[in-house]
Amino acid sequence: MNIRQSAFAAILAILLPHSLPAEATTPPRERLLMDRGWRFSVGLPDGGDSIHIANGSSVDSEISFGSFAKAGQSGGPAEPDFIDLAWRTVDLPHDWAVELPFDKRGDVAHGSKTIGPRFPSSSVAWYRRKFTVPQSDLGRRLGIEFDGVFRDAEVFLNGHYLGRNFSGYAPFSFDITPYLNYGGENTLAVKVNATAFEGWFYEGAGIYRHVWLTKTAPVHVPQWGTFVTSKVTGDPSKPDSATITVSTTVRNDGDTPADITVENKLTDGDAVVGKAGRKSSRVDPWSELVVEQQIPLAKPKLWSSDDPHLYGVQTRIAEGDRVLDEVTTTTGVRSIRFDAKEGFLLNGKRVFLRGTCNHQDHAGVGVALPDRLIVWRLEQLKKLGCNAYRSSHNPPTPEVLDACDRLGILVMDETRTVGATDEALSQLERVIRRDRNHPSVVLWSLGNEEMLIQGKDAGIRILTPMQRLAKKLDPTRPTTVAMNGGWGRGFSGVVDVQGGNYLKLGGGFDKFHKNCPDKPVIGSEEASHTTTRGSYVQDDTLSYCHSDPDKGKSPSWASTAEQWMKHYDERPFVAGGFAWTGFDYRGEPTPYGRWPSINSHFGIMDTCGFPKDIFYTYQAWWTSNPVLHLMPHWNWPDKTGQPIDVRVDGNAAEVELFVNGVSQGRKPMPRLGHLDWQVTYQPGVLSAKGYDTAGKKVSETTVETTGAPAAIRLVPDRSSINADGEDVSVISVEIVDERGRVVPTAGNAVTFSLTGPGRIIGVGNGDPTCHEADKVYASAPSVVTPVQWKSRIVPETGSDPAEVAAGFPDESWQGESFVPRKTLLPEAGKSVIYRCGATLSAAQVKGVSLSLLFPGVTNGSAAVYVNGHKIADAGGATPSLIPMPPGTIKEGANSIAMVIGSAFPKGRLLPGTALVLTSQTGPVWKRSAFNGLAQIILQSDRSPGELVLTASGEGLKPATLTITSKPSAVRSFLP
Ligand code: GAL
Repeated sequence: MNIRQSAFAAILAILLPHSLPAEATTPPRERLLMDRGWRFSVGLPDGGDSIHIANGSSVDSEISFGSFAKAGQSGGPAEPDFIDLAWRTVDLPHDWAVELPFDKRGDVAHGSKTIGPRFPSSSVAWYRRKFTVPQSDLGRRLGIEFDGVFRDAEVFLNGHYLGRNFSGYAPFSFDITPYLNYGGENTLAVKVNATAFEGWFYEGAGIYRHVWLTKTAPVHVPQWGTFVTSKVTGDPSKPDSATITVSTTVRNDGDTPADITVENKLTDGDAVVGKAGRKSSRVDPWSELVVEQQIPLAKPKLWSSDDPHLYGVQTRIAEGDRVLDEVTTTTGVRSIRFDAKEGFLLNGKRVFLRGTCNHQDHAGVGVALPDRLIVWRLEQLKKLGCNAYRSSHNPPTPEVLDACDRLGILVMDETRTVGATDEALSQLERVIRRDRNHPSVVLWSLGNEEMLIQGKDAGIRILTPMQRLAKKLDPTRPTTVAMNGGWGRGFSGVVDVQGGNYLKLGGGFDKFHKNCPDKPVIGSEEASHTTTRGSYVQDDTLSYCHSDPDKGKSPSWASTAEQWMKHYDERPFVAGGFAWTGFDYRGEPTPYGRWPSINSHFGIMDTCGFPKDIFYTYQAWWTSNPVLHLMPHWNWPDKTGQPIDVRVDGNAAEVELFVNGVSQGRKPMPRLGHLDWQVTYQPGVLSAKGYDTAGKKVSETTVETTGAPAAIRLVPDRSSINADGEDVSVISVEIVDERGRVVPTAGNAVTFSLTGPGRIIGVGNGDPTCHEADKVYASAPSVVTPVQWKSRIVPETGSDPAEVAAGFPDESWQGESFVPRKTLLPEAGKSVIYRCGATLSAAQVKGVSLSLLFPGVTNGSAAVYVNGHKIADAGGATPSLIPMPPGTIKEGANSIAMVIGSAFPKGRLLPGTALVLTSQTGPVWKRSAFNGLAQIILQSDRSPGELVLTASGEGLKPATLTITSKPSAVRSFLP
């Protein structure tokens, strides 16, 4: 069925009753992951007069991209029959910026990658994916949902332009029902233009979050169509009961009214613990209605940071006995309040928000994080003692919020674009609708540091529509905006909670609190103190900061953890604070701000999530675990006999320090402080003991002088993962001495290899000045487009015609600008012979396997010759790659000939013939350690088995690690 027929069929189907027609066994709603098997090419132009088949080689075409004259004809890669055989195959989530090299011409704030306005040839890319939908889907509503694409995505289905989404962070979707080819193949094409920036930090490039195909009945709950809120009665810390209110939007995408019932059940695990009786309604054709229902719940289990209990709400839409749709919404019962005097109250009790701000990139993978890596990062923040997360400065990936719901982390959820325009308001609306069911979200952030307007009247006019919208969509949560000046003016009067970035910039909270005593206050951003993991000097050449916060360089607005935490501690009206940042991120390499520094130094952990010394400072205050930490390391061969500073962080009441067992004294640990000693350095053992107020030993730690690097040790976060094609194991690569102690200064290069059903998806080491590749991949084949096309009609010989010979003189033949527009057609007893040539350099033929991209013939088949040797009889209108036996193609001039015989009248050669050169060398994964550590991330395949990772390095005993990928459920996906 062609596209026109399928559109007609779709129209017919929507005239039929709502409950038709999917097969009896098909669930009313399907949501299929579309992450696998995309074709990808970077470097395609924005239109012009040629289309590209790969890597910069172009061929002329009848339709170039950018022609929007007719529905279904957008040209170039947007077209279904565009040949993408020589493109790379990638899986989502995918970030092509992380694959690009570091370059000192790159934008420093964005991580010095070859992307952005200065790099037009690597900043625009296309993704294409074919898929089929069964004939039985005709009559259902089908949609494509994108969780996030950076940025400016234009989306096409079967050549039809679906629309454009600018935001690199807000989710977007399209109803594709009318455009599908039912019972046949469909082509989704996405052009992504990452030339412009939206932030001032590394933002990645590409389809870096999940993509879904959704299928529903015509009468259904639209995307984000449920809104669940709860209200407790009685003591908010121990309520007697709660009322769960469920607003269900029902949409009728059909021509007849639907008489439906809406039913909502509350579940606790598998048990149904509450119900709202069925409510009947009529939904008019092509319209929506909202049904509101209440579910009473006795003795609710509350959602809190320590015990984040989750309930489910099952919503069912039915027409008579027939279920039209079913959705489940996760919810939590909790009450929140920001108070001008008491700060933040969760379930009636004051909770200090121990937060970190975070960008979304991680070592190895850029912004394309598998779900498990997102969870892993949040687990590290939990270990740190965080109970709050600010997704700065953009809406998070949905899986961040799922994990925060489960882990009990309170979220300040931020939109990216501040404005009163349709675009800015639409971004905010999508984020609030998507995220408003998450119990973890406690605050909407309408923006960050809008220096040009935040304290002005224009700021009031611009922010007010955002505030109005936020209140309309979610009356249950307050708003804030992170301001670094102008507190008390402009924005301050619009939002519910005053967000203050940097007490040094805003002038501290006292003045504001005095002037606006009724406005709650939160430290939306603090710290920005810069340290480098394991570095005990400030090295301005290599751009490393000192790991001791009292010794290094930091920007003027920065406060150490002690400075800002003490300030907040003394002001209980402040709801809490978010340290800038939990993890280092690419870009913004303050304090150096220049090459060769490529990532930030603000993190409490580095880009791999390895803790810096400062991690233990926070952990000592933010957890009740016994924490005792010593710095620096104890490998100072040049300092023997000299004085050396030792810093101790911890939460014991008193600490005693020892060098080689000799006490250096015992000191009380100050509140929100640390201890310093100066001792004489001797190699051996530096150790400390912590005591409680009664003098009982509660903690102990040691740092030892190690030997030279001798071996590699691989330490996985989990040695058993799910064989679902998504799960990952995060593996620390440690350089150890002969006794297995991590050598804190080691920078050895390590090479990795993997066997088994899985893959390596990234490597990193947390070094903010390292320019080694985070990712290696089998690069796209290179393509050589043949030139000097000629054609001639010749009598059919029945055997190989003389005209296919390598050196056949064809000077007098008819020239073809390119096949097939002015092409000759074979006639009775005659064939058409096409000849063309390709000249290859020695480098092009070395270490590559060569194939001929045969674009297909409209009718029948063609005999294909290279340098006079017949390599195939290739047929059909579908393009194929014909492998060429070694030796067929040589350095220098080569000739290609194709013969279409009279048995195939009207047989026309399609455009796109090319030589495809695929490198035979597979990617080699390697990474140097930085101060003893590196990281490698392995991902499972969908088949179970053992992943065996080997790591080796010169002069080091290699290591082998086995990760079991165990049979597990795989999420519903689109093949
Ligand atoms: C803040 C800003 C952050 C980051 C930080 C670095 O002013 O909001 O995005 O740039 O400074 O210290």
